[in-house]
Amino acid sequence: MNYSNLDEIAAEIKICKKCPLFRGRINAVPGSGNPNAEILFIGEGPGQNEDKKGLPFVGDAGKFLDEMLESINLKREDIFIGNVVKCRPPNNRDPLEEEVGVCTRNYLISQIRLIKPKLIVTLGRHSMQVFFPQLKSISQVHGKAYKKAGQVYLILYHPAAGLYQQSLKETMKDDFKKIPEIMELIKES
Ligand code: URA
Ligand code: SF4
Repeated sequence: MNYSNLDEIAAEIKICKKCPLFRGRINAVPGSGNPNAEILFIGEGPGQNEDKKGLPFVGDAGKFLDEMLESINLKREDIFIGNVVKCRPPNNRDPLEEEVGVCTRNYLISQIRLIKPKLIVTLGRHSMQVFFPQLKSISQVHGKAYKKAGQVYLILYHPAAGLYQQSLKETMKDDFKKIPEIMELIKES
């Protein structure tokens, strides 16, 4: 589909039945933030709170994400946050390859095309594998930036991973500090 703005995509997502995940949702979560964001964050999929509100990262993982954003002087209004799948998987299970394929081909790719971010930050393994299916272990590549077909990516752990593990929390905060550094490099080049 050739969408002309993000609201058009969101409207389609809200009524989408292209994969079985539509059956379990209260609300689809198209993503939110600045349509002209320089940085696009991509999570995995809505959890219970996101499903209830129709907004991304509004639960505990979202709180931790906000904390990390604040540490680098970013607000939600500065960035855009989306997910690999837009509807909540049952009991928060991992999204299936098929669901990820259908949802990203139909929506995420169009969202990226319209936002044209300078940097895409992937959060967690599923988001990483949408762009780098050859990478298997996020523990070996978190905090690394890659350039592929002219697009710069930074691979980060999912914020939920840091919630219960203090050591990982510190690692994630360190990884986050690379965002302003990478943005400077992009703007210099
Ligand atoms: N986890 C995600 O991956 N996405 C959300 O929107 C919320 C939690
Ligand atoms: Fe449609 Fe994506 Fe929801 Fe599946 S997860 S029903 S493809 S919006």
